[in-house]
Amino acid sequence: MTDKYAIIGNPVSQSKSPLIHAEFAKQSKQDMSYGAILAPVDGFAAAVDAFRAAGGRGMNVTVPFKTHAHAYATDLMERARLAGAVNCLKFEGDRVYAENYDGVGMVNDIQQNLGFAIRGRRVLLVGAGGAARGVALPVLAAHASELVIVNRTVAKANALKDMFSPYGSVASCGYPDLAGRNFDVVLNATTTSLHGELPPITAEIFAPGCLAYDMVYGKGLTPFLRLARDAGAARIADGAGMLVEQAAEAFLWWRGVRPATQAMLAAIAVPLA
Ligand code: ATR
Repeated sequence: MTDKYAIIGNPVSQSKSPLIHAEFAKQSKQDMSYGAILAPVDGFAAAVDAFRAAGGRGMNVTVPFKTHAHAYATDLMERARLAGAVNCLKFEGDRVYAENYDGVGMVNDIQQNLGFAIRGRRVLLVGAGGAARGVALPVLAAHASELVIVNRTVAKANALKDMFSPYGSVASCGYPDLAGRNFDVVLNATTTSLHGELPPITAEIFAPGCLAYDMVYGKGLTPFLRLARDAGAARIADGAGMLVEQAAEAFLWWRGVRPATQAMLAAIAVPLA
């Protein structure tokens, strides 16, 4: 019988996950379907219950349900617990296993696709919302020498520092505190690029040879990436690779098969120009 999977979100029609998982399933000859479920914003649990009752095996979870999925799960994996958010569910009997592959997807994209090793690098994480919280642990697990979290609301950066300090060298600050500092990797986890805006950073934070990574995808050369490019960053990248690589991790978790990602990366890339 065909195994059923889906992404759940609101909105959800913009999601590339059905396309990505269909390609992975075809490539690895898995007998599975992958749909998209638009749930009412107050109807997450009911929609997931119905999907499970109809034989659903797993789900990806997108905005605004990542924290709802965290509450719905019976078994939180460590990354999901620390992220406070879930982007992937696996159903087995009455158990609901929950993972968060966003951060590991980003780190795999940076290290494997972009060929940029994080070990020993000074990393600046710009933003302290849900996206930032989801990637902090995998960045530390990749042995960054230092992770500095900067945020407009400094108390939120401080809270993340306290949460992640047991896992590596973490500091927090406000934007004015960045004066005179630079970093080898700069990760934009704010929502500014969605609005064509720039977080209040300056060109000097990009160290020579650095990587600048914007977690949004499909927005082309965002103001953040433009600033980085003009400042001489060696590499700039958007979140398309993160999206594909988190999907590959989910697929592996569900199906026990790691799909090749190169064709999909090429298919969904938007030129950064
Ligand atoms: P997400 O779940 O996508 O991370 P979020 O939790 O609402 O969304 O977090 C948005 C992040 O973008 C926050 O770090 C926010 O800063 P504040 O915590 O100070 O609000 C940041 N952000 C949004 N607009 C910003 C702007 N114009 N300048 C700087 N940071 C901004």
